[in-house]
Amino acid sequence: MAPTSRCRAALLLLLLALACAAPPLLLAADTHLHFFMHDVVSGSSPTAVQVIKGPASSSANGGVSTGFGDTTVVDDALTETSSATSPEVGRAQGFYMVSSQSSPSLMMCVNLYFTAGENNGSTIAVIGQDDTMATVRELSVVGGTGKFRMATGYVVWKTASMSASTGVFELDVYVTTPNATTIDASAPVSPLDGGGSSGSTSTAKSGAAARPVGWVRKDQQ
Ligand SMILES: *[C@@H]1O[C@H](CO)[C@@H](O)[C@H](O)[C@H]1NC(C)=O
Ligand SMILES: *[C@@H]1O[C@H](CO)[C@@H](O)[C@H](O)[C@H]1NC(C)=O
Repeated sequence: MAPTSRCRAALLLLLLALACAAPPLLLAADTHLHFFMHDVVSGSSPTAVQVIKGPASSSANGGVSTGFGDTTVVDDALTETSSATSPEVGRAQGFYMVSSQSSPSLMMCVNLYFTAGENNGSTIAVIGQDDTMATVRELSVVGGTGKFRMATGYVVWKTASMSASTGVFELDVYVTTPNATTIDASAPVSPLDGGGSSGSTSTAKSGAAARPVGWVRKDQQ
């Protein structure tokens, strides 16, 4: 065998060995969640409170204000069914802002924080455009924590009912997370803070050494 082809063969073997040894990082788990969000804007215990009043002057909508800039902070209940008294699965915590001068369209920015069942304590971060006049909206899942760490996906968002005091929204959340069996989602520690226990003397190297707290595949621990 000529030296170059021997070299090539060795390289091929090496690549093959690496391919076999590489962890299956791309394996993913898909989850579909379905629940209802209750946006209570008035009454004795509102869960949505306007905290910023926009300038309310815009000529872009034929002189009719869309409420451009109006911003509402929310801690809305998420429940199993459209009934407000059905079991709570979590809260939608964040805010929405009227961000169109020509239509009642919102920039929605909420953490879906689960408080029951197998997802208790985990969150899904959602940001997106909510054109309240549209029958169906699609918002982005931009991340998550706990069981939904490094989640990606989308939310199909519909208005279920609307009254003067309460808007009820139906949410179908589709998320993809790295294979849950390869990540210890119960570990609350960021890989960047070195495990959080070694204090100010922590260096990048000791941080890396502390990674087995949740960020190494379980079969490598
Ligand atoms: C997750 O990874 C484990 C171990 O590598 C594997 O047995 C399992 O089939 C994977 N599940 C999914 C949904 O990819
Ligand atoms: C959710 O988790 C918290 C903290 O671990 C716990 O106190 C609470 O009882 C749990 N709720 C449910 C409904 O499981």
